[in-house]
Amino acid sequence: MYNVKNITEDIYYVGANDRRISLFEGVYSVPEGVSYNSYLIMDDKTALLDTVDKTVSHQFFENISHVLNGRKLDYLVINHMEPDHCAEIENLIKKYPDIKIVCNAKIQTMLSQFFDFDFKQEQFTIVKEGDKLETGKHTLTFIMAPMVHWPEVMVTYDLTDKILFSADAFGSFGAIDGNIFADEVDFDLRYMNEARRYYTNIVGKYGMQVQSLLKKASAIDIEMICPLHGYVWRKNLDKFIEKYQKWSTYEPEIQSVLIPYASVYGNTQNVAEILAGELAKLGIKDIKMYDVSVTHPSYVLSDIFKYSHIVFAATTYNMGIFVTMENLLNDLSAHNIQNRKVAIIENGSWAPSSGNLMTEIISKWKNTQIIGNRLTVKSTLKNDNLTQLKELAKEIHASMV
Ligand code: FEO
Repeated sequence: MYNVKNITEDIYYVGANDRRISLFEGVYSVPEGVSYNSYLIMDDKTALLDTVDKTVSHQFFENISHVLNGRKLDYLVINHMEPDHCAEIENLIKKYPDIKIVCNAKIQTMLSQFFDFDFKQEQFTIVKEGDKLETGKHTLTFIMAPMVHWPEVMVTYDLTDKILFSADAFGSFGAIDGNIFADEVDFDLRYMNEARRYYTNIVGKYGMQVQSLLKKASAIDIEMICPLHGYVWRKNLDKFIEKYQKWSTYEPEIQSVLIPYASVYGNTQNVAEILAGELAKLGIKDIKMYDVSVTHPSYVLSDIFKYSHIVFAATTYNMGIFVTMENLLNDLSAHNIQNRKVAIIENGSWAPSSGNLMTEIISKWKNTQIIGNRLTVKSTLKNDNLTQLKELAKEIHASMV
C-alpha cells in the first residue's frame, strides 16, 4: 500500500524507511533506522527528485504510482549518485521510458559506471550552475555542491516555493516516524545526536566544501529544506544551519572535556576515571567518557566534533597504540578533525610508547594544541602520578577560560 506525505500542496514525499538495516554504508550502525527520501512535484510537468536505496524499492514505486495517478513521469532530477539514492534509476526508466533525466555531466558519467543500462543520449538534459527547468508553476534551478558528499553532487532549488532539495546536506540518521517535518518532533532530544553523527561521519571531512555550499545557500531565500535522509525543515532553519556552520568549521559546540580511553585490564580506565573526577571537582560540567573498545568510533568521532577538549588515554600494545584507539585516531585524521585542545595519557608496563605515537598522529591535526605534560603511567596509577594527574586537570581547566 502506498504511504506518501504532502510536503506542500503539490510536492509529495515518496521515500521510505529502513529500520532493519544492519550497517549504513557497511560501517555505521543505525539503531533508529534510516529514511531514503525522494520527492515528487506534481505540476504541469511531473518531476521526481532522486530515487531510493534498493531495499525500499517496492514502497517507492507504489508511492510514485499512487501520486501520479495515471499521469506520466516527465523528469527525473538526479542530485547525487550514491547507491542509497540512485539504486532505482534503471528500474524507474524501464517503468517510465519517456522520462527525461536532468543531471550534471559528472552524474551522467557516473550513471554509466553504476549501470550497464543503455541510456539514450536524447533522454538527458545536462545542467550547469544556475540553469533552470520550468515544470509549469515551479521553476527549478541547480546549484553545484561538489564533495557534499561526492564530487558530482548538486542541489536543486525551487524558486517558486523557496525549497532547497539539499541532497545529503541537512540529513540525519533515523527513520521518519509518521511526522515529516522536523518541527513536529522533539528534534533536539531525539535526533540531534544522530544528525551530528550523520554529518560528521559522512561529510565531516569536507568542511571547506560544505562552507562553500552554505555560502551559496545564504544568498538565496530558503523557506524549506528537503534532504535525502531524515526530516524536512520548514521552521527554525537558522538553528540547524548554525549547527552546520559549526561542524563545517570544526568549531566545538561546548567547552567541556571528552575522554576516550583504551584499557586492557581496567588500569588505564582507572586513570581516566580519576582525571574525570578531578575535572569535575574543578567545576567542569558535561564531561563525557568513552571506552573506545566498546563504543563504535562513529559515536566518539561525532562527540569529538562537539567537545572543545579531548583527553586520549591509551595503553601500549605490541609497542604501538592499543588497536581500538589507533583506529579512532586514524578515523579522526581521515575526517580532517582540527581546532581542538588535547591532552594525552599513556600506559605501559615496561616500555610505554603509545604517548609518542598518539602525539605523532595528533600533531598533524590543524590548529590543535596539546595541553600540559603527557601523563605516563606504568601499569597502575601511583601517588606520584596522582600529583601529575591533578596538575594536568588544572592545566586543562585553565585552558578553558
Ligand atoms: Fe545518502 Fe552520499 O548518500
